[in-house]
Amino acid sequence: MPAVPVYLETFGCQMNELDSELVRGQLLRLGYSFVDRPEEAQVVLFNTCSVREHAESKAYSRIGLVGKRKAAGEQVLLGVLGCMAERDGLDMLRRHPQVDVLCGPGELDRLPALLDAARRSETATQAERVALAGNRTRRTATLHAVQDDLETLDLSRAFDPDAAGRARHSAQVRITRGCNKFCTYCVVPYTRGAEVHRPPDHIVDECRRLADTGVIEVTLLGQTVNHYRYQHGMALTVGGREAPQVGPGLSAFRQPAAPGVTSFARLLQRIHDEVPAIQRLRFVTSYPRDFGPDVLKVMRDCPRICRYLHAPAQSGSDRMLTLMNRGYTRAEYEAFVAQVFEHLPDATLAGDIIVGFPGETDQDFEATCDLVRSLPFKNNFIFKYSPRPGTVAIDRFPDDVPDEVKRLRNNQLLAIQSRTSERVHAAWVGRTVPVLIEEHLETAAPTTVRGGVELRWEPSTMPPRRRALRGRTPGDLIVAMDVPSGTEGGDWVGRIVPAQVETASALLLQGRMSH
Ligand code: 5AD
Ligand code: SF4
Repeated sequence: MPAVPVYLETFGCQMNELDSELVRGQLLRLGYSFVDRPEEAQVVLFNTCSVREHAESKAYSRIGLVGKRKAAGEQVLLGVLGCMAERDGLDMLRRHPQVDVLCGPGELDRLPALLDAARRSETATQAERVALAGNRTRRTATLHAVQDDLETLDLSRAFDPDAAGRARHSAQVRITRGCNKFCTYCVVPYTRGAEVHRPPDHIVDECRRLADTGVIEVTLLGQTVNHYRYQHGMALTVGGREAPQVGPGLSAFRQPAAPGVTSFARLLQRIHDEVPAIQRLRFVTSYPRDFGPDVLKVMRDCPRICRYLHAPAQSGSDRMLTLMNRGYTRAEYEAFVAQVFEHLPDATLAGDIIVGFPGETDQDFEATCDLVRSLPFKNNFIFKYSPRPGTVAIDRFPDDVPDEVKRLRNNQLLAIQSRTSERVHAAWVGRTVPVLIEEHLETAAPTTVRGGVELRWEPSTMPPRRRALRGRTPGDLIVAMDVPSGTEGGDWVGRIVPAQVETASALLLQGRMSH
């Protein structure tokens, strides 16, 4: 039987990218094939994101296009996966009858069965085509964690060096699922559910098996990775093996880890020591509270752990931080950053900021600008507040900052961040840094930077194209350099090379490979 061609498109975050990779591996093993264009597919899958309305609108327009194909008589099976499926639930089927399969992010292990049922029969019942966590309560989430079928999705990963393709040298490994934080603007605790921690043995084993296929960089994923904590010796195991666990209350992080607990610091240390073939171990996202000195000490003492922190501040105004339920003040965030640089002077810091949160005044916004000016952020992802159905903020706080003002603040903050990025990058000029080469590209000569403004070449005066390499430092700074003469650019991809940094801009470092 010829393989059924599938088109899978991913929206949103790294967690979704990893989910898509695992879904892909699962379906490949079952004999499906993958195509690059939806027109060529018999099964179209959208792995969706609900964090902002913009991502949802994009997915809805894609869902609409598939609807048109179906209305024109094409036989296509449409599956909506991920957070939108979970958030919209059966409403999605009512409003978009062209959707055949719905699968929430916590149920992806069941996707093959859903697709199978929907393909076999047009009369497959809703129960056979829909898998959602629904309104599972915290208590049942504990039970569910133990029987956690989703763990089988992570465990089923295909450790096939060829399947990983281009990105063979880098991989992502999940350490926690879900989130217990309930920031008032955020939909994640509702769509991905309560925080569940994977057993450390599963994580270390996954890292080892990835390393065996040639992976040299692993990024550990979780919504708040530093909340990782696994209590050993619990009665709840599956088939004699340790099972995923629901995270403890937040107060657990105020005391040092008790014996029999694998803390985040201990997990990092274990992966570092037990899988030395991983030359770069990084993690996202860190929560800027409960980030103990134990983690910073492990980062300082383990040379293969990257000194890079993505720790979103979200705002520089205490009033906004309180309304967002972030659980820290600006001064506490600043103290956290000071502690990071005290332990790791060459660390790099990145984050996320939301502008235009309800009630944000000019003064609140100025406090955020000041934070971005004063702390050494390599970059910040800046988002305009987007009210999300089901969150506390949409119910309690009117979305009263006009879109025009949000846009203006977004642009102002981008300009401020750009100057901060320039400063952070400039401090690296003259140093030699290890660069993991990720890409070989044909490019024009580097743009010149004058007075903080990047000058681009007019096509007519463009200098001759030349071949360049692009990669990243352990601190996630992008470095571009020429291909050394007499060598093939492609041969460098996936290798770590030393580079002498010669110039810097807001976006990247320009260097020369030093032998
Ligand atoms: N509106 C705008 N940005 C949001 N984020 C999360 N929820 C929202 C929202 N409702 C941003 C936060 C978070 C990042 C992943 O997305 O900055 O850190
Ligand atoms: Fe959302 Fe806050 Fe959890 Fe991050 S920490 S996923 S912003 S609720």
